[in-house]
Amino acid sequence: MLIKAQAPSNIALIKYMGKIEGTGNRPTNTSISYSLPHLVTEVCLSPSSSGVDEWAPLQNQGFVAPTLSEKGKSKFLNHFARLKDQWGVVGAFRIESANNFPSDCGLASSASSFAALTKATALLRYEMTGEETSVHELSMESRKGSGSSCRSFFEPWSLWENEGAEAVDLGYPNLLHAAVVISAGVKEVSSSQAHVRVTSSPQFEGRTERAHQRLRSLMGALQEGDWRRSFEICRDEFIDMHELFETSIPSFSYRTNESKDVTDACQHIWNFKGDGPIVTMDAGPNVHLLFRENQRDLADKMIDHFKKKHMVISSWRGFR
Ligand code: DP6
Repeated sequence: MLIKAQAPSNIALIKYMGKIEGTGNRPTNTSISYSLPHLVTEVCLSPSSSGVDEWAPLQNQGFVAPTLSEKGKSKFLNHFARLKDQWGVVGAFRIESANNFPSDCGLASSASSFAALTKATALLRYEMTGEETSVHELSMESRKGSGSSCRSFFEPWSLWENEGAEAVDLGYPNLLHAAVVISAGVKEVSSSQAHVRVTSSPQFEGRTERAHQRLRSLMGALQEGDWRRSFEICRDEFIDMHELFETSIPSFSYRTNESKDVTDACQHIWNFKGDGPIVTMDAGPNVHLLFRENQRDLADKMIDHFKKKHMVISSWRGFR
């Protein structure tokens, strides 16, 4: 028996940052993300000969096996054990996984890998018990493994309020995505740790209201096709999150001079042309850009510029 599943990554524009303790990753605020179907994780499940669940890198053409830390491995295996328990799956399995993007490029693979593992386990459940799993249940269960993965079951837009995410129509179904890779190094503070640390920041007060206010404004702006306003809201949002990191006790920072150069260059384009990409940063130094389909010329020019200094991963030109 061999079970295979794939799931995409996603990039949040209104961020999940802060969770309610002891609730299996329930967020302190609603978040919204855009699906990244060009960045996927594949998971294979097969019987384990060692008698216990184990993880191994997947060897698959076009995929790059991740190097998982001991902590990362046990987070993944614990999620699998919980799902098996919940869904009445018995036996020991070998979990193999890999991403179709370099694992050392600092792009979040937590969302795609937990979503792919949840999907694969649901297929195993069907094989063993005949029970099907609804997309709502997939999203809700995946959330308990890693919060942001619950948004990876919907595209292009995903809205996550509480238990699990849902699809939402905000237009712009074919945005172009590019990630300017600033650092490939292992992060000193993981996003899971960041969720805890931000609550110590004096600026965490009012964070939920600020995020919800921006969420409402962003949904309105996208639905009305107000791209500039959408850019401004997303910019304020990622800066708000990074300021929480930088004012936590103890403080930490993912922003570097190089990420600042990239975000400044994007702002410069906006000032100069009155148009540009939506810009955002996750819990890391890399800068994510989203372009409308009719901005492809601008997108190509900007990528050519950034790739003189950095690796750029894009949905329409691959890895550069
Ligand atoms: C900054 O989903 O990685 O990317 O639930 O602890 O696994 P855990 O955290 P994770 O947090 C992602 C945070 C973020 C913003 C976002 O994706 O919304």
